[in-house]
Amino acid sequence: MNCIVTGGAGFIGSHLVDKLIQQGNKVAIIDDLSTGKVKNINKSAEFYKLKIESNKIENIFRKLSPEVIFHLAAQASVVNSTNNPDLDAKANIIGTINLLKLCVKHKVKKIIFSTTGGALYGNTDVAATEEVYPSPASPYGISKFTGEQYMKFFGNEFDLKYCILRYANVYGPRQDPKGEAGVVAIFAQNMIKNKACTLYGSGNLKRDYVYVKDVIDANILAVKLKANEILNIGTGIPTSVNELFELMRKFSNYSISPIYRPKRTGELEISFLNYAKAKGLLGWEPKTKLTDGLQETIKSFNEKIRGGKDA
Ligand SMILES: NC(=O)c1ccc[n+]([C@@H]2O[C@H](COP(=O)([O-])OP(=O)(O)OC[C@H]3O[C@@H](n4cnc5c(N)ncnc54)[C@H](O)[C@@H]3O)[C@@H](O)[C@H]2O)c1
Repeated sequence: MNCIVTGGAGFIGSHLVDKLIQQGNKVAIIDDLSTGKVKNINKSAEFYKLKIESNKIENIFRKLSPEVIFHLAAQASVVNSTNNPDLDAKANIIGTINLLKLCVKHKVKKIIFSTTGGALYGNTDVAATEEVYPSPASPYGISKFTGEQYMKFFGNEFDLKYCILRYANVYGPRQDPKGEAGVVAIFAQNMIKNKACTLYGSGNLKRDYVYVKDVIDANILAVKLKANEILNIGTGIPTSVNELFELMRKFSNYSISPIYRPKRTGELEISFLNYAKAKGLLGWEPKTKLTDGLQETIKSFNEKIRGGKDA
């Protein structure tokens, strides 16, 4: 398969590129390196440092004639989206429309779009299904939902094939501990460096932690799906930050007591996703137990930090 991965220098995108290349596919990356890192870029991939909203990306489509686009590039920070909704919209809405137009013009067979469950569904008493109508509470959620709506429009109007994957909280090696949302990455780094960890909302906030390699499997399985679908990609298991902290503390031999702080404005109490539809249509299930994924993540952070590199 000949494909483009937008955001392929980022956390999730770089794991996807590695897997696609390992499977023998031809991969090009479009990434502006705003949060992505050169060290994440697979050397066997072609790399284009460009913004997805730039009209220059048409040259790449013309040159490569890609069959599949995995669209992960995004302004992915809720805080940045609140401070600069216009910049968020430029990347997440205008950038997505730019890609969709090029997909139609250059006869791309399918686009697979990474979006979000948590920022769309809000608090849910039971694991959210795709039937829950999104009520995004941040510019990030709004721009991701708008991207989804454009994808549906291009699907209906121009017969573009798509699959929308709504992720829970993705964690794993290479996640940036400087990001605001990667609590696993932040704890891993702090525990290895023997620094205190801050737990918001008294550590009672619950999230659905899905391992990055399972998310990659979902992307690859989605290529073969015939119908245009929206699918949740999560574990269906809510885990409190306190539980997460205790597990990671045990795996890191760490003994510093946490600092408790009140919940930050706009933070959800509980967010977790029902993945029954992905299981039924893709045969996808999260394979990695939280305990295993956390240990793999801590091991990888340990190797990098002890090796004198940033996580
Ligand atoms: N990490 C999660 O828990 C999570 C959860 C839900 C959805 N997602 C979505 O998954 C995707 C990947 O997220 P991630 O966690 O790997 O984040 P990331 O920040 O590591 O990756 C995003 C990549 O996109 C690039 N990028 C940003 N704006 C761009 C632009 N305008 N043009 C070109 N490249 C641009 C960045 O440089 C970066 O490499 C995003 O679309 C995000 O919204 C992530």
